[in-house]
Amino acid sequence: MAFWFNSDRERGLVFAEAFARDLPDLPFAMDISEYDPDEIRYILTWTAPPDLYRFRNLEVVFSIGAGVDQFKPGTLPPGAILVRMVEDGIVRMMQEYVTLAVLALHRKLKAYIGQQADAAWLPLPVRQAAQQRIGILGLGMLAQAVMERLKPFGFPLAAWSRSERQVDGVDCYHGSDGLTPFLARTDILICLLPLTQGTHGLLDARLFATLPAGAALVHVGRGAQLDHDALIAALDEGHLSGAFIDVTEPEPLPPEHGFWRHPKIILTPHVASVTQPETAARAVIDNIKRHRDGLDPIGLVDRDRGY
Ligand code: GLV
Repeated sequence: MAFWFNSDRERGLVFAEAFARDLPDLPFAMDISEYDPDEIRYILTWTAPPDLYRFRNLEVVFSIGAGVDQFKPGTLPPGAILVRMVEDGIVRMMQEYVTLAVLALHRKLKAYIGQQADAAWLPLPVRQAAQQRIGILGLGMLAQAVMERLKPFGFPLAAWSRSERQVDGVDCYHGSDGLTPFLARTDILICLLPLTQGTHGLLDARLFATLPAGAALVHVGRGAQLDHDALIAALDEGHLSGAFIDVTEPEPLPPEHGFWRHPKIILTPHVASVTQPETAARAVIDNIKRHRDGLDPIGLVDRDRGY
């Protein structure tokens, strides 16, 4: 029985040390050629290697990231379960990034950066937090952690999820009927949804038109959820006031793409939240122990739902 770490060596060394300490009976493989494929029970990887079917005794595929949309249907052995990365580092970084983005949009940072370049000393009108309604698309673990961080600022908070959920201090909407009223009350929209068939292209012209005039977008879901042209049109018409974008399709964006130099867009290269090896090793080790005890791992993916 062995664990295959199918990622970069630098992070692998951190994992190897944690495994040697906390799971000394489980061989840790970075070089798979030294192993009989039948020995491999666990793999940690970003995507499914093309020859995954060789590992006939594979029980768990751990995604190295929080997202699992890169595991295309049919690429995982039917007997193996898929587990997304749920670890403190990802959560903390997502809280930081979304807070940064919300405050930057709330306090018009991009406009001031533009004014500074023009040597223009020009105070702009500012809303109080109690008048800046935040809405988050998605109500999973990351979204809830982000909401907790935003609470002390006093923004009115709402969230939308596919199925009904309740969170203290957050106005919760759900299902297709809940989407329009949720959008209509949202001044800063945060997308933290997983990429599924149902969310592909969700951030489109119709959705932007449903937001109140002057609304802004924080996009930390997946690139394919956003219609780039529709966003640029909504910003240029003045219906949307700004966007803070971390994920795009494709990544990286080509140099001529309209997002790079848009005066109302802040663009970052998919860095909102990155798996941290120390805390991720802890999370994977805990999950292997849970699996051995017959418990579901934390972050178990429902393969039909896709998240
Ligand atoms: C990053 O996007 C991740 O899936 O962790």
